[in-house]
Amino acid sequence: MDNFTFYAPTYFDFGRGAEAHVAELVRRFGGSRVLLHYGGGSIKKSGLYDRVKSVLSEAGLFAAELGGVKPNPRSGLVYEGIELCRKENIDFILAVGGGSTIDSSKAIAAGSLYDGDFLDFYHGKAKIERALPIGTILTIAAAGSEGSPNTVITDEATLLKKGTKSDVLRPKFSILNPELTCTLPAYQTAAGATDMIAHVCERYFSNTEETEITDRLCEAVMKTVIYEAPRAIREPDNYEARANLMWAGMLAHNNSCGVGRVQDWASHHIEHELSALYDVTHGAGLAVIMPKWMRYVLEINPDKCVLFATRVWDIPLNEENPRETALAGIEAFEAFLREIGMPSSFAEIGARAEDIPLMADKLLGGRKTEGNYVKLKRDDVIKIYENAL
Ligand code: NZQ
Ligand code: ZN
Repeated sequence: MDNFTFYAPTYFDFGRGAEAHVAELVRRFGGSRVLLHYGGGSIKKSGLYDRVKSVLSEAGLFAAELGGVKPNPRSGLVYEGIELCRKENIDFILAVGGGSTIDSSKAIAAGSLYDGDFLDFYHGKAKIERALPIGTILTIAAAGSEGSPNTVITDEATLLKKGTKSDVLRPKFSILNPELTCTLPAYQTAAGATDMIAHVCERYFSNTEETEITDRLCEAVMKTVIYEAPRAIREPDNYEARANLMWAGMLAHNNSCGVGRVQDWASHHIEHELSALYDVTHGAGLAVIMPKWMRYVLEINPDKCVLFATRVWDIPLNEENPRETALAGIEAFEAFLREIGMPSSFAEIGARAEDIPLMADKLLGGRKTEGNYVKLKRDDVIKIYENAL
């Protein structure tokens, strides 16, 4: 195991009705003038918007609001949010929604206290040192942004989808009420589950040795998602399935599963080019890419693929032919993704073969390789995309 630091100071309030505590939590973390940031309307339909507004106003908290965050959040709305925060003297951002709303809030939080263009942070031209505090009320178990220091934004001018991170972006609190996720369409539930497994795999597929504790945590999270996602899809109101998925999504990405080793992240970066170009749901893009990435790296570096098969998918080890074991694991993963209704090819997500060279170039952006479990060159990335056609 490598040396590491671990800093994850978010306060979690988990359970039924937890959103009733939002005003108290905003105050506890120093907020008095709040920007309420949300997405395309699911929170209005579910009644959550009205509940949150009334809790804030009963507590005497000022609340400006900015809705309209789209999945794969865009730079345009972030600029609007920054302007609004400055105009209204906002001192706390409350994100009510999923990863997209939380990531947009993080961008506004950092951008409001920065003199230059907030996209500098995403293009590697500046480091985030300060940000307004943020809190979240999560409505979809997926991206893990509720407990992560990360944010991903699409620059509308260049269609580059870029991430950045800073410990100051970690939410001060996150309210996790599994009931709020019962209104999710099956497709979003499935895409969220896929994203969770991908977050774990990006950490699990590592060449760092002797990481038993994090490997076992990874396996526990993946097995839970594999059990609970089909249950939540069959029975959308199943509180326990929703609750287990919700906590799994947080654990998958707050780095508990990742510390002490070199992580990979190739599949995520390969996927981000798909969501940037075709606006595909992030988890659905991962369902197309991740198994193709696994099949590709299996031929170069099979060890972790074998462990993934035996421990996560309970495939018996074929000692004579471990490659066969690993392959059976990947096939089990593919069958699971099909069962929960995820796509497996470019055709299903409207992606085009002719864009592959462009995506590979955008992805590498001048770098020689992508990922760490296997260091992928441009040709390797192209082959992975082509295997997904
Ligand atoms: O916008 P509304 O109307 O709220 O609808 C959303 C949206 O259409 C809907 N939804 C959310 N909660 C719902 C609901 N519909 C009904 N009932 C509910 N309770 O679901 C759709 C997807 O929402 P979104 O926020 O986009 O989903 P997710 O949480 O999967 O976030 C995806 C974004 O997060 C980024 C992705 O790249 C993508 O842009 N990621 C962020 C990470 C991070 N910050 O740490 C890590 C991830 O790897 C990921 O890259
Ligand atoms: Zn992800």
